[in-house]
Amino acid sequence: MNNIEYINLSLELHLFFDRIMKEHSIFLQLAFTEKEKNFKTIANNFQNVFSNFLNTAITLANNNISNNILSSNEIVTKNTLEAEIKTNFLTKTNINTKITEKELMLRSGNINLSQQLLNNIEILNQQTLEAIKQLIDFKEDILNSVLECKMYTTNYPLLIAHIRNEAIMYYNLLSKVQRKEEFTKSYIYEQEQFWNNIMKEHAEFIRGLLDPSEKQLIITADKFADEYESILSNSNNLETTINKSLNETINFRNFKLAGEEGILNCKIRSIIIPLLADHVLREANHFIRILNEFKEQRNYF
Ligand SMILES: [Fe+2]
Repeated sequence: MNNIEYINLSLELHLFFDRIMKEHSIFLQLAFTEKEKNFKTIANNFQNVFSNFLNTAITLANNNISNNILSSNEIVTKNTLEAEIKTNFLTKTNINTKITEKELMLRSGNINLSQQLLNNIEILNQQTLEAIKQLIDFKEDILNSVLECKMYTTNYPLLIAHIRNEAIMYYNLLSKVQRKEEFTKSYIYEQEQFWNNIMKEHAEFIRGLLDPSEKQLIITADKFADEYESILSNSNNLETTINKSLNETINFRNFKLAGEEGILNCKIRSIIIPLLADHVLREANHFIRILNEFKEQRNYF
């Protein structure tokens, strides 16, 4: 991997995953009861830590990032700001919307390679890897306490495991980039399996967080879960799976987008926090972007 690829891949990972990690910390924070005040505080600290990484990455990425990434809607969607404002209003979480405004101003451009930029990225990667490790342990700790019935939170245990798995994926990808390792074909395949499973679980969470009266939406969410399940169990031929995964995820992304807008406009009954609706939408956009890249045989991951 050359220096340009190293910078590109590092920035792409930060812009997508730092926000994901910061939002996981918000979802954890919101789900604790008064009894777990310490956990609330720790989750809030993680939110700040990953907000800072994201903020640094945005500064480094401006005029240094491809248009492909900016137009994928995986960093920020047209609804992210509104979802944050509504989430702040509903929960008093104090999400920093300035970061989002800064992301919306990001401009693409060819990397201006300098030793300074390389050093900054290397330091950011190293610091982030340390923080992800701690966040993985924190999520693991919460999951174990919930599974041993020592802790109550309003997050499903599967959701806690799900966000831990995303943190592990981020750690693995970023450490590979930090070692400047090339991405092999088997790694692409692993990525595809991973995100198909994440999409399946999103369909299951959405199904379970909708109000029982939203019968049609529950049926549709359930259908997506079944379809991802079938893609996962028949994924022998890489090429046909990529097309199937892509078509399925474009449909699922449209469902998530309609769902988010229904939630923002108070037209859907659920216990889905607006920012969670935007978060799962961005993950679908990310998966669509990487599937398109696999198809075009470039930037293997
Ligand atoms: Fe996530």
